[in-house]
Amino acid sequence: MKRLFINIAKLVQTGEMAGKKPLRGAEMSVLKMLEDAYLLTDNDKISSFGKMSEIREKLSEYQNGDTEIIDLTGKMVLPAFCDSHTHLVYAGSREQEFIDKMKGLSYKEIAKRGGGILNSARLLHETSEEELFRQTLVRAKEIMGFGTGAVEIKSGYGLNTADEIKMLRVARRVGQETPLTVKTTYLGAHAVPERYAGNREGYVDEIVKETIPAIAAEGLADFTDVFTEDGFFSVADTEKIFEAALRFGMTPKVHANQMSRSGGVQAGVKYGAISVDHLESTAEEEFRLLANSNTIATLLPGSTLFLEMDYAPAREMIDHGVPVAIASNYNPGSSPSGDVRFMTFLAVLKMKMTPEEVLNAITVNGAHAMGLGSTHGSIVAGKQASFIITKEIPSLAWIPYAFTSPWIDQLYLNGERILL
Ligand code: NIG
Repeated sequence: MKRLFINIAKLVQTGEMAGKKPLRGAEMSVLKMLEDAYLLTDNDKISSFGKMSEIREKLSEYQNGDTEIIDLTGKMVLPAFCDSHTHLVYAGSREQEFIDKMKGLSYKEIAKRGGGILNSARLLHETSEEELFRQTLVRAKEIMGFGTGAVEIKSGYGLNTADEIKMLRVARRVGQETPLTVKTTYLGAHAVPERYAGNREGYVDEIVKETIPAIAAEGLADFTDVFTEDGFFSVADTEKIFEAALRFGMTPKVHANQMSRSGGVQAGVKYGAISVDHLESTAEEEFRLLANSNTIATLLPGSTLFLEMDYAPAREMIDHGVPVAIASNYNPGSSPSGDVRFMTFLAVLKMKMTPEEVLNAITVNGAHAMGLGSTHGSIVAGKQASFIITKEIPSLAWIPYAFTSPWIDQLYLNGERILL
């Protein structure tokens, strides 16, 4: 099926270069776009695009042929969002911990009392794979409503081989049974399970010797992640897990420097991590390291807001030449929201990113942070026809500015319109 979208007020993110590698430094402030444009799709792919003046004379040929013509007068088109850090698969919810936090308990104190990740692990263990899929599907549909077209989904609430596999099967199934493009990450090293209390090394051994090979045997994970943080996993644990994961073809990612300068960035860069995520506690040494690497800094302002912490120093990172992505970190404990539209607002308001930088961070760089740089994140011929059509909004800066306004009019994923 061919579709020709005409009279597009602004066709955003049309840079050829954008498909090749993540944007860094000054590149992040450039958002290539065409005004008064057309976009032609052929089945699930972008076929071509350009100025309306280039096709105006040929319009009647399209009208008489088998191409559906869609008039977008006054509307903008931008790539569907690429949310490169989520924990979309989980059971139940943890609003009680939110209330406990309001009463003064810290994230670490809640975790120590058996709340936090271990609470989610208990709930997940009691939930069947089918029911887990049903609950996850609700969130998958929800995030498409926010404009997300590609998403990374982590495990990490299983904390034993069978339950981690259950989570990753559900994540893969989301990719098979919804229009979302899904990349999966094994995050067994998210917390030490109760049965290994006082014996973290034992759990790391289980991850390395039993769980990673079992997950690899089913081809369930594209990436491996570790929560490298004081009270969770050390740099030595992280390196051991990465060595095992790399033997099975899983690229590293790291939850790094969320609460302290944990050494996670250094471990990530050393093992060629595709991204290091969080980075609220990050300094000059890490900026330089990341600027000289191919690792993307993925910042998660939703959890920073929720946990009432200091925001990641996005401005300094970009000024040092670090490629920055923004993601929702949708999870039940620190960011119960998968609304990347809202994350663009936080990134501008709290991290002083410009609208252009933020939109690059949530499209091109988000795609690269999940290994989808050649297929998603920009309007380029040959890429997936996955894009957002806006309502008649005055400018691109409206997107991070009007932070509760429902500015998305339509969503196309892989060439098909999604009912929102
Ligand atoms: O990215 N920090 C570790 N993991 C999640 C929180 C998970 C939870 O509390 O359930 C995060 O913030």
